[in-house]
Amino acid sequence: MNITSLTQYKEQYEAHKDDTAWLETCKEYEWFNFPTKALEGNFNDANVTWFNDGKLNITVNALDRHAKNTPNKIAIIWEPNNPEDKEIKITYKELLERVCKFANVLKDQGVKKGDPVCFYMSMIPELLVGALACARIGAIHSIVFGGFSAKALAGRIEDSSVKFVITNDEGPRGDKKIPLKEICDQAISMCSCVEKVLVVRRTFANLDYNEKHIIINDLLEKASSTFEPVVMNSEDPLFILYTSGSTGKPKGLLHTTAGFMVWSNQTFKNVFQAKDNDIFWCSADIGWITGHSYMTYGPLISGATQVMFEGIPTFPDPGRFWNIIDKYKVTHFYTAPTAIRALQACEDRFYKEADLNSLKVLGSVGEPINIEAWNWYHENIGKNKCPIVDTWWQTETGGIMISNLAGVTKAIACHATNPLPGVFPILVDADGNEIKDKKASGNLCISKPWPGMARTIYGDHQRYIDTYLSTYAGNYFTGDGAKRDENGNYRITGRVDDVINVSGHRIGTAEVEDAINKHELIIESAVVGMPHEIKGQGIMAYAISKGSHADIMSQINSHLVEQLGPIAKLDKLVITTGLPKTRSGKIMRRILRKLAAGDKDNLGDISTLVNPQVVEELINKL
Ligand code: PRX
Repeated sequence: MNITSLTQYKEQYEAHKDDTAWLETCKEYEWFNFPTKALEGNFNDANVTWFNDGKLNITVNALDRHAKNTPNKIAIIWEPNNPEDKEIKITYKELLERVCKFANVLKDQGVKKGDPVCFYMSMIPELLVGALACARIGAIHSIVFGGFSAKALAGRIEDSSVKFVITNDEGPRGDKKIPLKEICDQAISMCSCVEKVLVVRRTFANLDYNEKHIIINDLLEKASSTFEPVVMNSEDPLFILYTSGSTGKPKGLLHTTAGFMVWSNQTFKNVFQAKDNDIFWCSADIGWITGHSYMTYGPLISGATQVMFEGIPTFPDPGRFWNIIDKYKVTHFYTAPTAIRALQACEDRFYKEADLNSLKVLGSVGEPINIEAWNWYHENIGKNKCPIVDTWWQTETGGIMISNLAGVTKAIACHATNPLPGVFPILVDADGNEIKDKKASGNLCISKPWPGMARTIYGDHQRYIDTYLSTYAGNYFTGDGAKRDENGNYRITGRVDDVINVSGHRIGTAEVEDAINKHELIIESAVVGMPHEIKGQGIMAYAISKGSHADIMSQINSHLVEQLGPIAKLDKLVITTGLPKTRSGKIMRRILRKLAAGDKDNLGDISTLVNPQVVEELINKL
């Protein structure tokens, strides 16, 4: 599917009301067995498959065919954390060889088809190569973002009974080095399932290694550079990726091979409209879904050239992103509103000193973008000539669902605009009825399965059904609220469940509460999102403590860093004598959210509270 005009978009949208239209798109890929079936199953039976009788290996599509047709084309330009260090350019031929070498090492270490393999690494080429090597041999990669704590990592390792963990010694990040191997060792000491830890030495720091550790740098060097791709069924698992939900335990969303391949690639192609010689840069970490779909798979399947960046936007100074764009003549730049706002807050000279003329398309992902950030991005980075694609999607969706197509369909500031072909969004009201009016606002659901959707929560299909498919029977519930204008353009307004979006990353309030409640000074807590200038949403906790302690906020924050990681740090803590509760003992979070947003005059009906005096106390404390 190649959409290059508005008419084609409309035609394709119509055509994909019939799911068999996807079989035509499947012809763009190489298969061992071409599928004859498109969609089977539905949201009611909660057992959806796509292209079920197909056989393929996703890496043949991401690597072999380009290594054959355009072997010397650069696949990855790796920009190290320190700008004085030399970049690494990897051609498609070299990338295939590296992936095969890695696959051979995995096989030699005992990794087999269907084994979950956990990666806890920083943004070095071996992370991308290792993930693809898993796909080559049919193992399931489970990548955990390198900013999570040992406890959080351990939970994710145990949940999928991982035997093999891959890490690197340290991850350079700005002027710091993240002790990845050390954190990994702590995590493993809490798990009983891990047999081997494969370590890539990145900084060559002098660390202790024991019999579980296998340093793989030399093994990778010496391994054979060929590896026959394992034949996978379309519905064989490709990866697990954990994300926060509204209960304490993270969910391991499972994506399968063919549907994810088609979705990550078709959305990449049609949303970004990158041409042959363009340079694509997605600034997300591979530890998040954006790095899976728009760095590891989508662009490589298209044979694109992309930048992979090890560092952070503000090191050595806030001009780093803009310098990288100039250095590699990046044409397509995809980042999150939180990064845009953080850079917008820095001195103008940082972007003014850059040329930025190579840019053609800008992208935004992860959270609603505010108009000030949109305008700043459009004017100062895109020089008023680059369309901004505001791409709405989720870990669960596998790829972009609602977005304008760069230069093809109309961009509207702060609007994701239109659904992609194959995406059928609806808005539902509080009673669960579909709102038929064009202009409306409500909870966003998707009414029909699409190829890229996660098929289950690893090891807990019932939770998958309960979380996504039960709230509005027959539909997938996104957890987001949205507005639709009279022309059918969608604007995503944010989460309507107990999930906070901090700097474009999801964190469940229950997860933070569980962690806070484990602290010895805390009796009970309630966590809500609060408006935050840079992060979009910050984390605010109301807590009942044992006695008074001057430095309680910093104590709780170091505890949260240990339990969950730096992402979970509180932006505000209010110590209270009680939490507003209903007669049934439920915390009335609506009130806490309103207070967090400074909206104390609109608290609504509080007559059902058993302890209304607490509201007064909280108002006085804020
Ligand atoms: O609330 C929506 C928000 O991010 C959530 C998904 O988070 P995650 O699974 O971590 O994936 C982030 C990267 C796709 C959504 O439920 N979100 C994502 N993109 C947008 C957005 N909100 C508004 N506009 C967007 N473009």
